Amino acid sequence: MTLAFGNATDQIAAAWRDDLTDRLVEYVAIPALSPNFDPGWEANGEIERAVTHIRSWIEGRDVAGMTVDVQRLPGRTPLIVVEIDAFGEPTTDATVMLYGHLDKQPEMEGWREDLGPWTPVIEDGKLYGRGGADDGYAAFASLTAIEAVQRNGGSHARCVLLIEASEESGSPDLPAHVDALAERLGDVDLVLCLDSGCMTYDTLWLTTSLRGLVLVDVRVDIVAEGLHSGSAGGIVPSTFRIVRGLLDRIEDVGSGRLLLESANVEIPAGRIAEAASVAAELGVAALESPPLVPGATVTTEDVTEALLNKTWRPSLSTIGADGLPPTSKAGNVLRPYTTLKLSIRVPPTADSAAVLEELTSTLTTDVPYGAPVTIGHPESADGWEAPELQPWLASALDDASRTVFGKPMQLYGEGGSIPFMGMLGAKFPSAQFVITGVLGPQSNAHGPNEFLHLAYAEQLTGVLARVLDRHASTSA
Ligand code: BES
Ligand code: MN
Ligand code: MN
Repeated sequence: MTLAFGNATDQIAAAWRDDLTDRLVEYVAIPALSPNFDPGWEANGEIERAVTHIRSWIEGRDVAGMTVDVQRLPGRTPLIVVEIDAFGEPTTDATVMLYGHLDKQPEMEGWREDLGPWTPVIEDGKLYGRGGADDGYAAFASLTAIEAVQRNGGSHARCVLLIEASEESGSPDLPAHVDALAERLGDVDLVLCLDSGCMTYDTLWLTTSLRGLVLVDVRVDIVAEGLHSGSAGGIVPSTFRIVRGLLDRIEDVGSGRLLLESANVEIPAGRIAEAASVAAELGVAALESPPLVPGATVTTEDVTEALLNKTWRPSLSTIGADGLPPTSKAGNVLRPYTTLKLSIRVPPTADSAAVLEELTSTLTTDVPYGAPVTIGHPESADGWEAPELQPWLASALDDASRTVFGKPMQLYGEGGSIPFMGMLGAKFPSAQFVITGVLGPQSNAHGPNEFLHLAYAEQLTGVLARVLDRHASTSA
């Protein structure tokens, strides 16, 4: 049996039009902040509302051989676990894992006046609001793809769909969940993940790498309380100056190059070629036209280098600070301490735990004036690089892209992180990965005016259905 492609396409379109879009509108309205952004998440119940919303939709689907569970572990976010028996005539006993997350990033400021994180608005085929694109649609699209295979004479192998709720906090709850699932995971030989991005909305973009992430709070103390800056300035050293010096140890201030040895890797030649070909095809459009203020420029005009900076080189962002009053409330005070929250993206193949260790020792050794440096909330997550794409999958994806988009599939690296992919790559070293997603130009996950490109989400659903069907008949 093979999938009746035409009917699957129509059925997927009808599902998006008549059902999925409305369910996602409801989902966007739920402020299901990830635990890192809502320490009271358990009592507040928003994660639970999102779980209930998605779980009850899944339970209402007419999918053969499906069981739906919510796995609960003490003190951890819940995990939706959907098992679907093999269907049709698959030639494999292996399992396909499908993955998405339902936890969200915080509000962020700067939303267009008539938009907001929890007020879904559909305009020009885009669903605006927090978490629709990152990553609420994944559960709906993944199950709809399975349903489309079943309803149109296709086959699929055994499937396990996991929807987690701690991704935006670095997926701290997933290792324990995976242990608790044990043999229910099965022998995973294909992972389908809709939590990534795309460079344009007119073809299939397959993610070939994701960066890892290292996070720390670095705090420098100098006196027990704030002092008149006229009396103390010049006698008591400034904690801002000290922390500035510490940052100079880890980053070249002129270029933004990271100086930590463990955070730099040799970039594989094939990945450089991949970036060069994306740069040749898209030109500066590959940089997604960031909304630069007048007169400002990007780090480099060389598009290939810029893409490699984003995907295979480390970069530091200072994402928060304590101890600094807002300017409108700032008196002439020599402040007692400065804390910065540092977020370092690390290359796909870097050892993030080693980077964290090198970072910590670099920031805390031989600090000027003997000022105590405290490292708080250390976190690290490894990146991921795709294993070599097997020919059956390359051709299944390319065929799906040509059918759905009328264009060949394209390969490229991403700059964001999905901690679970690194864990899965280590656990199932011979599995193949289809990592793709809707986080394309202007979709602005984590920022203001996040949107889900509805037509693209629908097209990716069609791609997944075709890949599931081909996997069932091609792998032995
Ligand atoms: N969906 C994103 C990852 C992503 C972003 C992939 C852009 C491709 C393009 C994911 O939800 C995410 O934001 N992950 C966090 C992980 C972190 C907390 C370890 C991230 O990248 O900040
Ligand atoms: Mn995501
Ligand atoms: Mn995200």
